[in-house]
Amino acid sequence: MLGARITAIGTYVPERRLTNFDLEQMVDTSNDWIIQRTGIHERRIARPDEFTSDLCVSAVNDLMQRYNKTVEDVDMIIVATSTPDFPFPSVSSIIQNRLNISQTGAIDLSAACAGFVYALHTANSLISSGLHKKILVIGADSLSKVTDYTDRSTCVLFGDGAGAVLVERDELSNDFIGFHLGSDGSGAQHVYRSGLSKMVNGIELIDTQLLVQNGREVFRWVVRNVPDSIRQILKKTQTTLDQVDWFIPHSANLRMIEPICEKLNYPMEKTLYSLVNFGNTSAATIPLALDLGIREGKVKNGDQVLMYGFGSGLVHAGQLLKI
Ligand code: ACO
Repeated sequence: MLGARITAIGTYVPERRLTNFDLEQMVDTSNDWIIQRTGIHERRIARPDEFTSDLCVSAVNDLMQRYNKTVEDVDMIIVATSTPDFPFPSVSSIIQNRLNISQTGAIDLSAACAGFVYALHTANSLISSGLHKKILVIGADSLSKVTDYTDRSTCVLFGDGAGAVLVERDELSNDFIGFHLGSDGSGAQHVYRSGLSKMVNGIELIDTQLLVQNGREVFRWVVRNVPDSIRQILKKTQTTLDQVDWFIPHSANLRMIEPICEKLNYPMEKTLYSLVNFGNTSAATIPLALDLGIREGKVKNGDQVLMYGFGSGLVHAGQLLKI
């Protein structure tokens, strides 16, 4: 049996901190409101000359240093991002050159905040099929570049960051236990970034390069749908929630994670999230949270982890796997 497993992880966040107190000076908000409604204390913001490809390279350098791994024999790079440096060329092509990986495929994957889980699923499929051996999967976003810092309902949420993992072939077992993927385009107008005016689902999306969101609608949709999708993964894999050592939902808002856990009857103490110090970093939140769990000594080898990403699309994706 051919299987796949994650063999190394690395992360990066920019140096500059944007605190709730900084935001109080920029828009009509308060530290108390932000903490109460989101759980976020601060976020990291890329320098003007720092882009998603730079975050990716730094995350991969962290991975190589900590795990004593090389990436020269990587045969596919998948970068999940909604904020590439350019519409084209892809971020994966830019970092292929900077990391000096000579023989590799390189693709960017667009699935917003579910992107990292979609990319992991793709890597597992390519490896389990026997076609690939070693894949670099990265979730990275520089949302600060597309955030409207005059809109208090969005600018308090977002930050920048990147998380990279190596997924390698395993001849004996497969750590990828089960998954669920979904998309509900009827909610496409609830979170978007547009370069043109266009009707979608009967609503005109406004012409802006900045992120626009109806946070309340996204919130409702997530809390209504994600618990059922998680139950489907558990059912398909005959797993019970007490066998799940760690739950890693997308870190959009702590007030969204709590009702998901409540509906599932899953303890918040076994939930990992990266939003407190990094905010919503879109495709990077899940690898950042996993890495925090590893660095804090919570996540151990062999633990079963359930990741669940959701975001603009509206797309969602879950993966149950062994670490
Ligand atoms: N500070 C103070 N007041 C605020 C702020 C702020 N930063 N933001 C909104 N408010 C106000 C509103 O104007 C509103 O005032 P009103 O009652 O006078 O009209 C009041 O607070 C309540 O607004 P709600 O929108 O109901 O607040 P809610 O508790 O829903 O929190 C939030 C808003 C934080 C945006 C929440 O809805 C949320 O997190 N939604 C999910 C967002 C998400 O997950 N997006 C994922 C997509 S990201 C991607 O795909 C790239």
